[in-house]
Amino acid sequence: MPQTKSPTKFIVANFKSHQTTPEAEEWVKKFTSIFQGKPGVAAVILAPSFSNLHIYETVQYTLLAAQDVSPFPPGAYTGAVNARQLKDLGANYCLVGHSERRQWFGETHSQVARKARELWDQKICPIVCLDQDYARDQIAALEPFPEPPTPVLYAYEPVESIGTGHPQNPAEVENIINDIRRFTEKNSLILYGGSITANNAKQYLSLTSVAGLLVGTASLDPNEFNAIINQI
Ligand code: PGA
Repeated sequence: MPQTKSPTKFIVANFKSHQTTPEAEEWVKKFTSIFQGKPGVAAVILAPSFSNLHIYETVQYTLLAAQDVSPFPPGAYTGAVNARQLKDLGANYCLVGHSERRQWFGETHSQVARKARELWDQKICPIVCLDQDYARDQIAALEPFPEPPTPVLYAYEPVESIGTGHPQNPAEVENIINDIRRFTEKNSLILYGGSITANNAKQYLSLTSVAGLLVGTASLDPNEFNAIINQI
């Protein structure tokens, strides 16, 4: 599984529902002109919209993620993009249960678990997004986990810090991640996300409990995103 290669830190760009195809191409052009890769130090994962997966698939020294997946296998589910299709497009990872999916699309713990299962079946690593108040219930809904090494990453994202410019303070992040870890499988990897910028990334990357960062707004600027990676 991709995450068992144990890079020092994961840095994930979540482009959300931004970027037309020309905008994605422009991002890739700028980023590839400055990013030389950080083998063994950082795993850089890019999560564009479905419509731009084929553009990001070609970016050297990075891994590809989708932002969502169908909870169903291939079949008569109009509008759904399934895990097998993601695999075919080169995705190694996929976000599931982002708080925006929960808020705007009514996604539940059991739907998130079904999505994770579809991904596991295709050997795609789910990045399960969590907030503190439901982390335990969401992790319980994921069980039973497949055979170890279990292909799962978690991202702790306090909803009040997402897109607000107010990241949670690092000491609190460390406490909550350690708390969440009690409910996860042993040695699980947990990222932090919420208003990360090049100016604050180092404070989080230096925490041993934080396996990496999930970056939204700041990832839309390739220079800023590269500067975040360089904080490792
Ligand atoms: P933000 O988003 O960096 O804009 O706060 C993070 C996320 O939603 O993953």
